[in-house]
Amino acid sequence: MKKVDVVLGLQWGDEGKGKVVDVLTPNYAVVARFQGGPNAGHSLHFGDKSFVLRTVPSGIFRDGSINVIGNGVVVDPVSLTEELKNIAAQGIPVQEKLLISKKAHIILPTHRMLDAASEAAKGKSKIGSTLKGIGPTYMDKTGRNGLRFGDVLAEDFVERYNKLKSKHVDMLAQYAGFEYDVTEYEKTWMEGIEYLRGFRFIDSEHEVNKFIEQDVAILAEGAQGSMLDIDFGTYPFVTSSNTVCAGVCTGLGVAPTKIGDVYGIFKAYCTRVGSGPFPTELFDETGKELGRIGHEFGAVTGRPRRCGWLDLVALKYAVMVDGVTQLIMMKADVMDGFDTIKIATAYKVNGEVVNHLPYELSGDVEPVYTEFKGWKSRISDIRRYEDFPAEFKQYVEFIERETGVPIKIISVGPDREETIVR
Ligand code: GDP
Ligand code: IMO
Ligand code: MG
Repeated sequence: MKKVDVVLGLQWGDEGKGKVVDVLTPNYAVVARFQGGPNAGHSLHFGDKSFVLRTVPSGIFRDGSINVIGNGVVVDPVSLTEELKNIAAQGIPVQEKLLISKKAHIILPTHRMLDAASEAAKGKSKIGSTLKGIGPTYMDKTGRNGLRFGDVLAEDFVERYNKLKSKHVDMLAQYAGFEYDVTEYEKTWMEGIEYLRGFRFIDSEHEVNKFIEQDVAILAEGAQGSMLDIDFGTYPFVTSSNTVCAGVCTGLGVAPTKIGDVYGIFKAYCTRVGSGPFPTELFDETGKELGRIGHEFGAVTGRPRRCGWLDLVALKYAVMVDGVTQLIMMKADVMDGFDTIKIATAYKVNGEVVNHLPYELSGDVEPVYTEFKGWKSRISDIRRYEDFPAEFKQYVEFIERETGVPIKIISVGPDREETIVR
């Protein structure tokens, strides 16, 4: 029996999961997504090529890999079709390499409309959703109204679709002034469904467990990050799925006893896109520089990401909830030119210093910082840990001591090659 290893984002998403999965895939025969949907945007760079994957697992470009869209994922047929056609254009045999769980829920055109209507109605207190229909689709899943890939195979699929759609139309009528027209988009959606019929819809929990029994190495690829988890994130400014490690169990049918290594990915600083609390956010020049040098713009929406210092209080919380066994640090190269670098090691909440994540991060939460001297040199060409400047190693080793978890991989640039495995 081979246990399932997991890659998770530990912050508010965009930590670099796509790159890490792509780097790790030579060690895995199967890569599986277990939650989220096209709200994710995972960037891959190799040679002169760049891709942003949204629903397709980041193992798709490696020869011979099998890629599974698990039951916990929500799938938009339009977005997935577009993505697969782009990948197929690179000569990748997508039909052979991709398996879709029959139990994965489908995002309807009207789910997207409901997302937009709900956000518009919230006004200033909006979540800052990617508007891909994620929330409404998971609501229909837990409300036991959803449409699943297995339903595509049913004779009365169109009737089932129309039934759910008409429920949505009634709901949308409650949003005064919200206008929409899905007629054109619905045609593209139906074409997407037809295209996807050419793929294998599977009982993924059975397949995944067969792989486990047969010692086939599986990597579960998380989307979003632990601070966006529906239970443990900065609620209500979160996504609608369990992004933490436990999501692998429910989103793929993997028993907790069959989880192996948990790779927790974090940026050497912090970013967040959309609304919600972010204690270490910087509104000054340094924040702007992180954004500019780090190209911090949403891979899906193009929105500028909010930037700030590393938040160790939140990071330790994620390490705890996820049971992280190895850390992976990304994008420290962005801070190459900085004189001083800070890490939040505690918060002051209503004037009192606390070391744990409080119930609410909004309100009177002020970070308490530990300062580090910058390494002030280019680290992107370094390939051995020994060769890093002393100041950089101090930064790395401080985080290891504080979290109690080794930093096993350090990424110093977007390319596959710009990676140091210790
Ligand atoms: P994901 O959603 O977690 O897969 O992350 P995204 O792809 O949304 O965002 C991460 C961004 O950082 C992408 O543009 C990557 O190409 C880039 N990136 C990843 N690792 C590094 C790194 O070590 N250094 C730099 N400078 N960029 C990186
Ligand atoms: P990857 O996988 C960063 C954020 C949105 C919004 C909140 C809810 O690329 O790391 P949703 O569309 O899920 O209803 O949005 O979550 N969000 C992400 N932020 N990276 C992501 O994915 C995200 N997916 C959702 O910006 O604040
Ligand atoms: Mg992303």
